[in-house]
Amino acid sequence: MPPSTLQARRAATRDADFRSDVLNGLTRRPKSLPCKHLYDRRGSQLFDKICELPEYYPTRTELAILRTHASDIAAAIGPRAAVVEYGSGSSTKTRLLLDALPDPVAYVPVDISAEHLHAAAARLSLAYPGLDVVPAAADFTQPFELPKLPRPASHAAVFFPGSTIGNLLPAEAQRLLGLIARLVGRGGGLVIGVDLQKEPAIIEAAYNDSAGVTAAFNLNLLERINRELDSDLNPSVFRHRAVYEPGPGRVSISLVAEADHTATIEEEPIEFAAGESIHTEYSHKYTTQGFARLAAGAGFALRRVWTDPSEWFAVMHLVVD
Ligand code: TRP
Repeated sequence: MPPSTLQARRAATRDADFRSDVLNGLTRRPKSLPCKHLYDRRGSQLFDKICELPEYYPTRTELAILRTHASDIAAAIGPRAAVVEYGSGSSTKTRLLLDALPDPVAYVPVDISAEHLHAAAARLSLAYPGLDVVPAAADFTQPFELPKLPRPASHAAVFFPGSTIGNLLPAEAQRLLGLIARLVGRGGGLVIGVDLQKEPAIIEAAYNDSAGVTAAFNLNLLERINRELDSDLNPSVFRHRAVYEPGPGRVSISLVAEADHTATIEEEPIEFAAGESIHTEYSHKYTTQGFARLAAGAGFALRRVWTDPSEWFAVMHLVVD
């Protein structure tokens, strides 16, 4: 099959997934939508803006940790590693690590979006001519094989920054950690960014910024439904809501209807009662010990933890013994 046909088929599958996720999510009680659909082109642009907001501390804090401790982190990973990055997002973080690593043999970005993946791979090969860049187009929440590497590595180290692990429920996070442990095998490692539990007001401010960017990011999901499906949702009926729940240690993010509203989506009538919410995402915050316990259940031993002076965020190194 020519690549263009394959791409068209993949796009059609994605559309069908979006349509059924939306219809299933909005006809269940309580209503919810999978958070991966927040990141269309517009959503990704808004998320990049979130990362620069004064209230949104995770991105900048993790970067500061990586900058301060790059050589320590690199020494913990060790020489001749194959670095496997989960998501091919910020090349800034990747470069901080690659610049400090002793003799890395390969860089393997893993991303479900072929477009992101190939752009990131091209940028990296240009910047690191001596490094084998071997992109893997895969959904890392499912088992996948590491691609064949041109040169043998002494071990694989997964690099998973961004605290994305926090967007999974703890049981799902543990399952993903188990997949990572299986992928890297004995002697393999994981360097992961984890947002830590802290004063609720600080966390809530990060998800309720004063410029309203987070609200726009969340509401974009409703606009996306109108753009991509036959839908007449009225986004102005809904309000962004993000509340920290100290018990489970997570931010619960939703869209709340402020009035009764009936929309028609793909010919299905969808009713919202005033006060009813659509859950869009959780962002779990861990303690170091809590995360170490979760990882231990997946076969990882915690080796090192690097934090910022306020202990808002942690970069952890774990290994499969
Ligand atoms: N991974 C980010 C986080 O949990 C995603 C995120 C930031 C987010 N702000 C958001 C998701 C607002 C939904 C709504 O911190």
